[in-house]
Amino acid sequence: MASSSSSLAGLLLTAVLCLQLPVHSRAQLRVGFYNTTCPNAEAIVRQAVTAAFATNSGVAAGLIRLHFHDCFVEGCDSSVLLSVNPGGGTPERDAAPNNPSLRGFALVDAARAALEQSCPRTVSCADILAFAARDSVNITGSNAFYQVPSGRRDGNLSTEAGAFTLPGPNLTADGLVSGFRDRGLTAEDMVVLSGSHTLGRSHCNSFIVRNRERLASGTISPAYQALLEALCPANTSQFTNVTTEIDLSTPVVLDNNYYKLVQLNLGLHFSDDQLIRNATLKGFVDAFAANETLWKEKFIAAMIKMGNIAPKTGTQGEIRLNCSIVNPSSSSSSGYAGVIEMLRRPGSDDKLAMG
Ligand code: HEM
Ligand SMILES: *[C@@H]1O[C@H](CO)[C@@H](O)[C@H](O)[C@H]1NC(C)=O
Ligand SMILES: *[C@@H]1O[C@H](CO)[C@@H](O)[C@H](O)[C@H]1NC(C)=O
Ligand SMILES: *[C@@H]1O[C@H](CO)[C@@H](O)[C@H](O)[C@H]1NC(C)=O
Ligand SMILES: *[C@@H]1O[C@H](CO)[C@@H](O)[C@H](O)[C@H]1NC(C)=O
Ligand SMILES: *[C@@H]1O[C@H](CO)[C@@H](O)[C@H](O)[C@H]1NC(C)=O
Ligand SMILES: *[C@@H]1O[C@H](CO)[C@@H](O)[C@H](O)[C@H]1NC(C)=O
Ligand SMILES: *[C@@H]1O[C@H](CO)[C@@H](O)[C@H](O)[C@H]1NC(C)=O
Ligand SMILES: *[C@@H]1O[C@H](CO)[C@@H](O)[C@H](O)[C@H]1NC(C)=O
Ligand SMILES: *[C@@H]1O[C@H](CO)[C@@H](O)[C@H](O)[C@H]1NC(C)=O
Repeated sequence: MASSSSSLAGLLLTAVLCLQLPVHSRAQLRVGFYNTTCPNAEAIVRQAVTAAFATNSGVAAGLIRLHFHDCFVEGCDSSVLLSVNPGGGTPERDAAPNNPSLRGFALVDAARAALEQSCPRTVSCADILAFAARDSVNITGSNAFYQVPSGRRDGNLSTEAGAFTLPGPNLTADGLVSGFRDRGLTAEDMVVLSGSHTLGRSHCNSFIVRNRERLASGTISPAYQALLEALCPANTSQFTNVTTEIDLSTPVVLDNNYYKLVQLNLGLHFSDDQLIRNATLKGFVDAFAANETLWKEKFIAAMIKMGNIAPKTGTQGEIRLNCSIVNPSSSSSSGYAGVIEMLRRPGSDDKLAMG
């Protein structure tokens, strides 16, 4: 919240407005949240990611995307990990935009198990996702490192409809920008974070049919589309697990190659290509293609910003014992916590709310 006035009245008005904001929008994540309660938390997650990466380097891409899909739906609260929605119905995880393409769940379970050994019931699944995404950036992007503000708590709501609010590969430039704006991210953040597509893979169903329209309109390299057609099964109405690397040349390296490909009509998804069909967005693409250092700096800042989308903190939510299911009600702290939260609400400050 910016105050244009430095007068006492302006400060008072700002203070009053802040007090009126709901508790959850003021709560802060903090670097080193587990310093005292679980000092090895981040090292334990890092160890799990390193081990998983040694077996399958694709896990890094999977973990970065898991964190993204978590944060964009219900905030960063690990709703994407739930295999059962306690409210009933299909959870996000099983919805078409996530299933079967999301990967990295086994790593999360391994990290959860290791954390329970060291410091039971302390580290949230949402923070595991945030740490694991950071470690994936670290492992794939030489010299890339950032401190992850933590203290997220786990939610209990995960719906199929939620997953369909994720930006999809058929979105236009305007659709992409508004999907990010809805979550407090800018058009530049959107282009910056799309650079994640320098890692990982995509299923034929995410691109092949739409790219025939791009071929007709001259917005995809014909040689590239011919290669994709040769890869993907002819019957496009049937789901297939056939995939292609999004950045064919360096799929396990976090570099700025994605932007260079997009410039050359070699973007894999319609949505990737849209980044050069709008002058504003293309300006960002060109800047990041020309300067990898610039992009990486912005990428790290945008990852932290994405990790701050509507976190549950303090007494909200719970620390899930099994990242796939909410705690059984007997071991859940939420009933108690709800009452404490209500008592605190009138004059509560961030320190109290953080518990
Ligand atoms: C701008 C809007 C975005 C769209 C439309 C989009 C769409 C997609 C699609 C369709 C796939 C392939 C899924 C499949 O079929 O297997 C994919 C993969 C991926 N996306 Fe995005 N994405 C977007 C933004 C992001 C962001 C913000 C991140 C991370 C910060 C991200 C990270 C990834 C990664 C790492 C993969 C590879 C996953 C793997 O190999 O398992 N994407 N994306
Ligand atoms: C945790 O320790 C680190 C390193 O000493 C420090 O930067 C950070 O502020 C600490 N965080 C908290 C919440 O105590
Ligand atoms: C989910 O959590 C909210 C807030 O803590 C609570 O009101 C609600 O009853 C919970 N829903 C289920 C199905 O557990
Ligand atoms: C990963 O992060 C560590 C700090 O924990 C840093 O020293 C190291 O250089 C990073 N690794 C890579 C490959 O960037
Ligand atoms: C994208 O559009 C194509 C038609 O061009 C359609 O076949 C495909 O199912 C759509 N994909 C998604 C994920 O909506
Ligand atoms: C393509 O797959 C659909 C859905 O499984 C099926 O109904 C159709 O018969 C198939 N078409 C051909 C030409 O095999
Ligand atoms: C694709 O892979 C998923 C996950 O491994 C599997 O459940 C599904 O049956 C596969 N689908 C096809 C059409 O092979
Ligand atoms: C390009 O995107 C920007 C940012 O969303 C938007 O303001 C502008 O209107 C778009 N330009 C065109 C020509 O669509
Ligand atoms: C690239 O970006 C970095 C970081 O913003 C900046 O310091 C550097 O001067 C830029 N390099 C060029 C050649 O513009
Ligand atoms: C976590 O819950 C899932 C779903 O019920 C179950 O399949 C899995 O075995 C559980 N994991 C552990 C470690 O208990």
